[in-house]
Amino acid sequence: MGRTTILVTGGAGYIGSHTCKALAVAGYVPLVLDNLSTGHRRAVRWGPLVEADIADKERVADAIRHFDARAAIHFAARAYVGESVRKPREYFDNNVAKTLAFLDVLLDAGIDKVVFSSSCATYGVPRDMPIAENHPRNPINPYGASKLFVEDILHWYEQAYGLRYASLRYFNAAGADPDGEIGEDHTPETHLLPLVIAAALGIAPAVEIFGTDYDTDDGTAVRDYVHVCDLADAHVLAVDRLLAGGGSAAVNLGSGRGHSVREVIAAVERVGSVTVPTVESPRRPGDPPALVADARFGQSLLGWTPRKSDLHTIVRTAWDWHATRIGEPHRRPAHEKNLERA
Ligand code: UFG
Repeated sequence: MGRTTILVTGGAGYIGSHTCKALAVAGYVPLVLDNLSTGHRRAVRWGPLVEADIADKERVADAIRHFDARAAIHFAARAYVGESVRKPREYFDNNVAKTLAFLDVLLDAGIDKVVFSSSCATYGVPRDMPIAENHPRNPINPYGASKLFVEDILHWYEQAYGLRYASLRYFNAAGADPDGEIGEDHTPETHLLPLVIAAALGIAPAVEIFGTDYDTDDGTAVRDYVHVCDLADAHVLAVDRLLAGGGSAAVNLGSGRGHSVREVIAAVERVGSVTVPTVESPRRPGDPPALVADARFGQSLLGWTPRKSDLHTIVRTAWDWHATRIGEPHRRPAHEKNLERA
């Protein structure tokens, strides 16, 4: 029997590209559908790329037919929380309206299995910690709201059309492919770990610590960092499960452990044997003090074991990826600085 093709929207992005590699390793053909608005052509290495928008119904239908895709993983979305507050139209258009168009194509093509990129941002400010899947969902920004809408759309589409889904609620994705083939590459970058590494490597003058007066052990905000390769593995397991006839579910993907901003900085200092320049800044609006997953349900449902989500491995793999890329043209001055430090 030939290999099964899985349509991966946003497969040129950070979590998408790592998932494509994991799919290929597991024997699937990842068919990437990406408009390359934020993704990278060079991150598409494990299967064909169809460069198109998810709402381009004709192109998507053609791709599904041509490559005989059997299930879909839907990553493509805008994913900056702060931007979503300023530009909700873009978020509801990209993440909800275009997803509706995409789901139409899937249903018309007879694809009834979807893995969806959801987020812990659907929970809003948590009432209980760690956060279990049945925690009330009250997003506090348009990004989280857009993910919640799609979760609910999938629920109703299952009732009406028999679409089976896995809504995977990521906590804080971090780290990079240990082989160094792909890594985190956002423009602009807003996530903590790459910014700490940039400051450590001299690419940025310092990293800002947003808030030192939280009610946490060291006063800085706590997050559940989960290795992007562990996330990728969970997607493969979710696809396996749907293809084997498994039912729909919403699942947290986190490590179940929380780390503060200062702990992340300290881990980078250990891995890089450097001192990271920091600046203490006010809290970032909309940031909850702590977000930690109760990750047990996903682990038992999917048979998922996060193997790389300890903070050291996350930081080590991210560090290696960023340190390698430092020779790229726009980073060259920092490269020289890095050599001076070494
Ligand atoms: N932080 C800093 N300095 C920085 C950047 C971040 O102190 O320069 C702090 C933040 O205030 C936060 C923590 O580091 O406390 C992590 O921040 P990130 O921006 O890396 O990630 P978030 O926790 O904001 O992640 C959120 C949601 C996810 C969502 C993601 C989308 O938790 O569900 O944004 O990018 F997917």
